[in-house]
Amino acid sequence: MSVLEAKDISFSYDHQRLFEDANMRLFQDDHAVLVGPNGHGKTTFLKFLAKELSPNKGNISWLNHVKVGYLDQFLALRDDQTVEIYLHDVFEHLFQLESKMIGLYEEASTSNQAMRLIRHASDIQDILEKEQFYQFKSKVDNMVQGLGLSLHVLKQPIAELSGGMKVKVMLAKLLLQDVDVLLLDEPTNFLDKKHIEFLIQYLNQYKGAFLVISHDAYFLSKIAKTVFAIEGKKIEKYK
Ligand SMILES: Nc1ncnc2c1ncn2[C@@H]1O[C@H](COP(=O)(O)OP(=O)(O)OP(=O)(O)O)[C@@H](O)[C@H]1O
Ligand SMILES: [Mg+2]
Repeated sequence: MSVLEAKDISFSYDHQRLFEDANMRLFQDDHAVLVGPNGHGKTTFLKFLAKELSPNKGNISWLNHVKVGYLDQFLALRDDQTVEIYLHDVFEHLFQLESKMIGLYEEASTSNQAMRLIRHASDIQDILEKEQFYQFKSKVDNMVQGLGLSLHVLKQPIAELSGGMKVKVMLAKLLLQDVDVLLLDEPTNFLDKKHIEFLIQYLNQYKGAFLVISHDAYFLSKIAKTVFAIEGKKIEKYK
C-alpha cells in the first residue's frame, strides 16, 4: 500500500525551474533514498513532503493517520531545555500516565473505594509495561551513545551544544519516536564512521518506510532498496 503520493509536482525558485510534473510514490515499507546532483532540488522536494513548503502545482497526499518524522539538513534547534528533557518529551504521555497511576495508589490508601482505584491503577501499570515505559531510560541511553554522544550531554542545555551535536540530538529524538515514515536530509553529515554504522543498522531493521537524502555512496549502498533520482526535473525510480 502506498503511504505517500506526489503527483504532477512543478516548482520554481525565482527563474530557476526545479520540477516539472514530477511524480513519486512511497510504499509503507519502502527503504528509499533520493539522489541527484547538488542544487537539483532534493532538499526542496523533501520540504514538500514534510509540508514545510508548497509546490507551485501538483499534490502531495499522505495516507490518513500516517506519522512522519523529518530531519532538516539545516536545522535550527535553539533551546534552553536540557537534552534529557527534550528527549523525554517523546514519552511525555507515558510520564503523565505514570503520575496518574501514582495518584490513584495514593488516593486508594485513604479511600473507601480502594478496590476500584487500585484496579484502575493496575490497568495503567499494564499499559506502561506494554509500552515499555520502564525500559525508556536505557533506550534513550543506547540511542544517545549509538550516535556518538556521551551520557553527560543529557544534562546539558541544548543551546550549549555544537551544530553537530544538535543534529545528533535531533536525530536521536526522531528515532526514539514511533513514526511510520522517516524523512532524513543528509543525516550522516556530522556522524563519524562508527556512528554511521549504527544508523545503517537502525535503518535496516526499521519497520516503517524511509526516504533518505545523502551524498555518501557507502551509506546509500547499505540502506537503499529503492532509489529515486532527480533527472530532468522529474523523479525516476530504480529498484
Ligand atoms: N529559499 C530559496 N530561494 C531561492 N533559491 C533557493 C532557495 N532554497 C534553495 N534554492 C535554490 O534551489 C536549488 C535547489 O536547492 P536544494 O537545496 O533543494 O538542492 P539540493 O539538491 O538539496 O542540494 P544539496 O545537494 O547541495 O543539498 C539550488 O540552486 C538552491 O540554490
Ligand atoms: Mg540538500
